Amino acid sequence: MAQHLLHIDSTAATRGSDSKQLAAVFRRVWAEECPAGTVVHRDLATDPLPHLDEAAISAQFVPKEGWSPEQRASSALRDELIGELLEAEGLLISAPMYNWNVPSTLKAWLDWVLQQGRILPYGDGAGPLAGRPVTVVLTYGGGYMPGAPLEKWDHLDPYLRTVFTDALGMDLAVITAQLTLAGRAPGMDHLVELGRQSRIDAEKAIEERARRFAGLGGRVTAAV
Ligand SMILES: Cc1cc2nc3c(=O)[nH]c(=O)nc-3n(C[C@H](O)[C@H](O)[C@H](O)COP(=O)(O)O)c2cc1C
Repeated sequence: MAQHLLHIDSTAATRGSDSKQLAAVFRRVWAEECPAGTVVHRDLATDPLPHLDEAAISAQFVPKEGWSPEQRASSALRDELIGELLEAEGLLISAPMYNWNVPSTLKAWLDWVLQQGRILPYGDGAGPLAGRPVTVVLTYGGGYMPGAPLEKWDHLDPYLRTVFTDALGMDLAVITAQLTLAGRAPGMDHLVELGRQSRIDAEKAIEERARRFAGLGGRVTAAV
């Protein structure tokens, strides 16, 4: 049984969030299957990260003994975030589309954790997260499905596939509810049924993915 999850929410919404509601479906099903499971939950809106800073970057090229107070502080934050990632048997990330890409909260988290040589492998080698499951739950206000006029404007799903599949070699499932603004935003009333169906399909896929995650075995431990 997969016992330990890292759950990241990235929307700015604190109430009525579409993406958080979908992440909650995963959590509910996994908790039913795996009641002893443990979770580290980061809400990047209520507990925001700073942008990656110069101190964190420069500290990589200086021996620890020579670190400035700023380099020590930034490296401590980076160690904490990378430690959470390495400890997790699986990852659950929820994100709304913001301006055709990830919310900046999630980009900040990625900038902190995607450190070359620790999380990102050098060259063609496998990184420490290779093979681990990551479930990405996305919500789009509009519709970017194949054949839709705005299909090519979706830089969110392809970007996260580059990160988690191509760069990290993780076992990725991207599950998306589209047209969440249908019925709420002007000019989208004719899309309400399509949006409702997209949400139903997403919830079903998330339930299946959560059950599959619960069925995976073996606690992973990796050195930070
Ligand atoms: C700042 C901002 C930017 C957005 N940009 C887009 C966008 O580019 N494309 C889109 O389809 N929806 C966009 N939306 C709509 C959200 O993606 C959509 O409402 C989503 O379901 C919100 O999820 P949440 O409730 O978890 O925040 C945007 C919403 C906000 C607040």
